[in-house]
Amino acid sequence: MAEFDGQAALVTGAGRGIGKAIALRLARGGADVAIADINAEWAEATAEEIRKLGRRSWAATADVGDYDQAQGLTAGTVDAFGKIDILVNNAGTSKSAPFLEITKESWLAQLNVHMSGTFYCSQAAAKDMRTRGYGRIVCISSVAGFMGPIDLAAYGAAKAGVIGLVRAMALELGDYGITANGVAPGPIDTELLRSAWPADVYAERAEHIPVRRLGKVEEIAHAVAFFASPEASYISGVIMPVDGGSVAAGAYMVEKYRRRKKAGN
Ligand SMILES: NC(=O)c1ccc[n+]([C@@H]2O[C@H](COP(=O)([O-])OP(=O)(O)OC[C@H]3O[C@@H](n4cnc5c(N)ncnc54)[C@H](O)[C@@H]3O)[C@@H](O)[C@H]2O)c1
Repeated sequence: MAEFDGQAALVTGAGRGIGKAIALRLARGGADVAIADINAEWAEATAEEIRKLGRRSWAATADVGDYDQAQGLTAGTVDAFGKIDILVNNAGTSKSAPFLEITKESWLAQLNVHMSGTFYCSQAAAKDMRTRGYGRIVCISSVAGFMGPIDLAAYGAAKAGVIGLVRAMALELGDYGITANGVAPGPIDTELLRSAWPADVYAERAEHIPVRRLGKVEEIAHAVAFFASPEASYISGVIMPVDGGSVAAGAYMVEKYRRRKKAGN
């Protein structure tokens, strides 16, 4: 029997990138998966891949930062599969700008998708999970939520807010058999990142990571599947960096990089 057989999941922002890899991972593990994305075409394409794996899928076009649309995601998942066992809050976007140049609109938009979106979707899903005394909520934060990121103050603050929400949910939802955990990715090799960084920047950033490469979307999906599994029943309120060791190394990575350069490797 596969680990997620008979389970129903909702993954937000699953039209592409990390969210899509998470949705496919859960489906390969046996789950039926609802795909939510602001881009209808991408959502349907992921849903189609899941159906080809032999699992049920429902594609929904929604903005997680809109309260009513977020409520509709849980309602639609329950309509499609009869329940919701797993919620993965992954939808997100970032806009870089120096702190002194961040506009009010950009600040509010980033807080809205990450923090409000995570709150709206989690509250709606938890109300259904509570009725059955079982649930797994996994939120995608970022190492930018742990550190002071450059030109990403709004994004970093929003991702730190997600960490706060995970801890509060772990406390309040524990009564109902619901766990809440977070995954904090370092830089992951996605279309978004490759288009944002020129090739030389991309290569140099990899050298500042202890394992000397960027992460793969499947590596984030693996961590999410761990927290989402029935066996992770005694793990709640944990934020796990999946970052090739970057948070652990902190500023010491600067010295390691300097020594490597000096040694010519
Ligand atoms: N790629 C990285 O290096 C990295 C690192 C740390 C954290 N993250 C986080 O991982 C998550 C996924 O990032 P990604 O790299 O796969 O990005 P991506 O842009 O490839 O995918 C994000 C998906 O979310 C959807 N989306 C955006 N806003 C939405 C909204 N308001 N409602 C519903 N769907 C929405 C997009 O249409 C897209 O399909 C994000 O929360 C991001 O902040 C990414």
